[in-house]
Parts: sequence; structure tokens; C-alpha cells
Amino acid sequence: MMEGDTQAKEALASAKNAGDKGVVDKGPNTRKLGVNTPSDGLLGAASSVSGADTYRRLLVYIKPYKKQFAIAVAGMLGYAITDTAFAALMKPMLDGSFVDQDQSAILVVPLMIIGIFLLRGVSGFASTYYIAWIGWRVIKQLRSEIFEKYLTLPTAFYDRSSSGELISRITFNSQMVANAASNSLTVMVRDSLTAIGLLGLMFYQSWQLALTFLVIGPVIVVVVARVSKKFRAISRSIQGSMGEVSHVIQEAVEGARVIKIFGGQDEEMAQFELANESNRAFNMKETVVKALNEPIVQMLVACALATIVYIASSGEVADRISVGSFMSFITAMLLLFAPLKRMTSLNSQIQKGIAAGESLFAILDLESERDNGTSTLGADIQSIEYRDVCLRYTEDKPAVLHNICLNIAAGETIAFVGESGSGKTSLVNLLPRLYELDSGEMQVNGLSVDDYTLRSLRGRIATVSQDVMLFNDTIASNIAYGSSESIDEATLHAACKAAHAHEFITALPDGYVTLVGENGVMLSGGQKQRVAIARALLKNAPILILDEATSALDTESERKVQQGLDALMRGRTTLVIAHRLSTIEQADRIVVMDKGKIVEIGNHQELLANQAHYYKLHQLQFR
Ligand SMILES: Nc1ncnc2c1ncn2[C@@H]1O[C@H](COP(=O)(O)OP(=O)(O)OP(=O)(O)O)[C@@H](O)[C@H]1O
Ligand SMILES: [Mg+2]
Repeated sequence: MMEGDTQAKEALASAKNAGDKGVVDKGPNTRKLGVNTPSDGLLGAASSVSGADTYRRLLVYIKPYKKQFAIAVAGMLGYAITDTAFAALMKPMLDGSFVDQDQSAILVVPLMIIGIFLLRGVSGFASTYYIAWIGWRVIKQLRSEIFEKYLTLPTAFYDRSSSGELISRITFNSQMVANAASNSLTVMVRDSLTAIGLLGLMFYQSWQLALTFLVIGPVIVVVVARVSKKFRAISRSIQGSMGEVSHVIQEAVEGARVIKIFGGQDEEMAQFELANESNRAFNMKETVVKALNEPIVQMLVACALATIVYIASSGEVADRISVGSFMSFITAMLLLFAPLKRMTSLNSQIQKGIAAGESLFAILDLESERDNGTSTLGADIQSIEYRDVCLRYTEDKPAVLHNICLNIAAGETIAFVGESGSGKTSLVNLLPRLYELDSGEMQVNGLSVDDYTLRSLRGRIATVSQDVMLFNDTIASNIAYGSSESIDEATLHAACKAAHAHEFITALPDGYVTLVGENGVMLSGGQKQRVAIARALLKNAPILILDEATSALDTESERKVQQGLDALMRGRTTLVIAHRLSTIEQADRIVVMDKGKIVEIGNHQELLANQAHYYKLHQLQFR
């Protein structure tokens, strides 16, 4: 877990780094160094500065719950009092009830016992309840803030992040913050008050014995703290090895096909054996430490007890201390160990909470997608214009689009062709503002795309992309996804018929309510694409972006997909990345891309006549 955390922090730091224009003026050598030791300095500096800030920021989340917090603290106070009160009660119980046979003590002491435990029960419940009450509210709040952030972060962020890490921040780290916070609060309030009360009582009963305890006690506490540190280290290793076990399993399950075809069974088995065995070994180690821990601690406590008993019964202390005082002292001493032990872990608890908090705030502090536009883009699209547009994905890599200038008229179908990696997808992705331009401007209807609200801009664009993303839901809900009004069945079926998807959907055993599986694994490539086309049809947007990837389709499904696409393109302004000759030939204009530049524009006949880039490409691909 620790390792994952650091990696994530590094990824985040370098993400921030990438956004920072200051990186530009570093020489190539510094940059290379920066890659090898990812942002150590940056991160170190950041965490040392913000420890207290993080703490303060976390407190803000508790602020609305002052009343509940006060009750919880009062509960802890009550709980703390009962420990001391119980130890103190030993004296009247032994000296009064037993030794002196004092009638009032005989009556009062049992009532006191019940009273003490009543207070303990009520205050213990109140503090546990309200701490959890606040804790879960804070967790919920943090989770929804981060989830909301995830919905608005720039696309580039997801390119750089691992999804597992982003998930564990929401699920695991948020819980860790609340746990660490409530644990450290409990230690700070309840345990420290308990310790003060018990120590006070011990001094009150016999300062000589109390001083003796102050000499021996810390030794025991230190030993106990050491053991529990070791314990934590082992349980971290267990977590790590458990992670390794599930990692191997996950790969084996997800990569089942590759493993079969490439005969990787033995290798996978060996890897699993390794992870499985190390998990077993760590668990045994934990058992040993756990099993040794108790006798060792008990032995130490026994030594302390023996010393105190010896001092108390021999010499001059014995003359002055009553049986009741002595028992009260011993009880207080024994009760003192647990809170003292917890107090030694206070710092590590706080650090853990702060580290988890930092990892959450690092996400919350990331810049969301820019959405400052105020204009609303209507359904009537007159023009789309790329003005000298440059794009680079990361500061330290060369630009992938260079000075793109392009005018697209209403209703035009414009095809993009070019070698793989020439920047076609990058170019069309700029229209829905999935990435930020490096320089230049893009306009729709004569207004910069930045001036429109993201919602209205994206609302006018439908896309069918290279890799179709489907949610693990029914076909119907996948197709209706994002359509604003509730869709009636007739409309849904009409869209599917137009997309040539209706036929195969109705042939499925559950028809439109068939679950498509994770990312649509139950469907073939061509079926998925037709579902995506139906989804785009249903959105009924005036601008259409098609990023075709049909090389995997056979002629039959290609023909069906093509028919679907034709229906989709009718009457819309279409940007299509084309691999199919028919699409290309029918396009009003063809834009030929090469290494991030537009090298030729024209229709099929014109470009063939030019005998330049397109001609060569055409020769290569279609002859
Ligand atoms: N998200 C990204 N982050 C960083 N670099 C990227 C990203 N997407 C694409 N690139 C890079 O940008 C360049 C252009 O990629 P792009 O996907 O636009 O090519 P393409 O013309 O669509 O290729 P293909 O025909 O194979 O789909 C490539 O060199 C690629 O490595
Ligand atoms: Mg592409």
C-alpha cells in the first residue's frame, strides 16, 4: 500500500509538473534527470510545508458537526473518569467494607460500582456513536467531492493516472483519514485524560511507589511500542503480498485467452506459487509475533508488579500504606498500560491520517477542465474553424499537431486520412475540447469554442470512436445513455433500425435488456460499433465525429456498419476519420495528414489527379 501511495504521489506531482509552464526552460538534461527521479524534491517540500495545513483543512470537514463533536468529547471525558474512579474505589472497598466493616461503605461501594459502569457504558456509547457519526459523514463528503472531481478533471489527467489508484483514493484513503482522525482524537482526549487521572491517583495513594513506577513504566511502554511497530511492519508486508496475490489472479483471469494461446500456464502457476507462499510466510510471522507479544508484555508487567510489591511490603512504605491504598495503586497501574501504549502510537496515527489526507487533497486541488464560457451553442451549426492550431500532450514531448488551419462548412462531410499516428484522432478530439490547445484557436459559428459552456458544446457533438466504451448495463440503457429526455421504445427501436443494430439485438435471448458485460465483452466488435452508432443517432446532434476502426470487421458487418453510418451522417456536419474507400470517395473534402500537419486538401478526384500524398496513400492502401 505504501508503495502504491508513493507512486501515486509521484504521478500526481509529475502531473502538476507537466501543467507547470516553468518546466519549459529546463534544459534537456535536467528534464531527463527529472524523469529518473520523479519529483522527489518537489514532493518532499510539498509534504513538509503542508502537514499542518492538511490538518487544518481536515478540521474544516468536522466544523459543521460541533455539537456532535462536543458530545463525543464529553463521552470520552466520562469514560476517562471511570477508570480512575474504579481504581480509587478500591480503597473504600477494601479498607472500609472489608477491613473496618464500615456500614456506609458496605452500602455505598456496590452502588458506586454500578454507577461507575453505568457512566462508563453511557459515555462509551456516546463517544463511539458520535465519533462514527461524524467520521462517516466526513468520509461520505470526501468521497463525493473526489468523485465529482473525477467527473470534471481534464482528459489528460486520466491518460497519466492508473485507474486502480484513483479508485483506492476514494474507497480506501478517505476511510483511512477518518479512522486515523478518530483514533488519534480518542487517544488525545480519552487516553491522555485517563493516564493523567490514574497517575494522579497513584501519586495520591503513595508518591514513593508512583516514583518507582515512573522509572520502570517507560521501559515497558517502550518495549510494547517496539513490538507493535514490528507488528505494523509485518501487517504492511501481508497487505503487500496479498496485493501481489490478487494481482497475479487478476492478470490470469483477465488474460485467460492470451495465457492459453501463448501457453503461459506454467509461468503463471510459478508466479502465483511465489506470491501465495510469501503470503503464507508473512502470515505465520505475524502469528509468531502476536503469540510472543502477549507473554513478553505480561512478563514485563509482572516484573514491574513484583518490584512494586517488594518495595511496598518491605521497608518504610509498608508502615504507611493501607491494603486499600495499595490495591488502588496497583489497579491504577495496571489500567495505565493500555492508554500509555496507545499514546505511543499517537504520532504515527496522526502521520497516517495526514498522509492519506494529503493524497485526497492532492486530487481535490487539481485543476478541473476549464469551463468559463457563457454562450450556449444552438443546434444550427454554420461553420467550424481550426485557426493555426497546435497541440502537444505533454510539455516535454514534441507537438503532435502543427499549425492546423481548416474551415468546415455546415452540412459538410470531411474525411481525414493519413498514416497511423499522424494526428487524426487528436485533431477531431479538439472539437469537443477533450484536450487543451497549445496555441491557436478553434471557432464554431464564429465564436471561440472556449466561449461556449462545455455542456452546450459537447451536447451538439455525437461521436463514434475507435474504441467503443459500453457500460456494464443493458443494451437499451447503453444506447439511451446521455439522451436528455426519457426515450420511448419506438424511438429507441427506430434508431437501432437505422444503425442496423435492431436485427442482432432482437436475435439475442434477452433482446434489448441483454446485459452487455464489462465494456461490452458479450458483443462482437461490429455489434459494439453499431450500438455506438445507435447511441449517436439517438443523441441527434448536428455535429458528428466518426473515428472509424473497421479493419477488424469482416465485409458483411462492415457493410452493415457502413449502412448505419450513412444513416447517421445524413444532414449533419461530419468529421470522419476514414479507412474505407467508400467513405472517402463520398466525402465532400478529404484532409490528408502527415506527422501532425495537413499536407493536402481536396476531393477524391482532385487529390488523385495531384499524384502527391493522397495518391501514394491510395496506392498503398487500396490497390
Ligand atoms: N493521450 C495521449 N497522450 C500522449 N500522446 C498521445 C495521446 N494520444 C495520442 N498521442 C500521440 O499523438 C500522436 C498522434 O496520435 P493520434 O491518435 O492522433 O494518431 P492517429 O492519426 O489517430 O492514428 P491512428 O490512425 O493509428 O488512429 C501519436 O504520436 C501518439 O503517440
Ligand atoms: Mg486514431
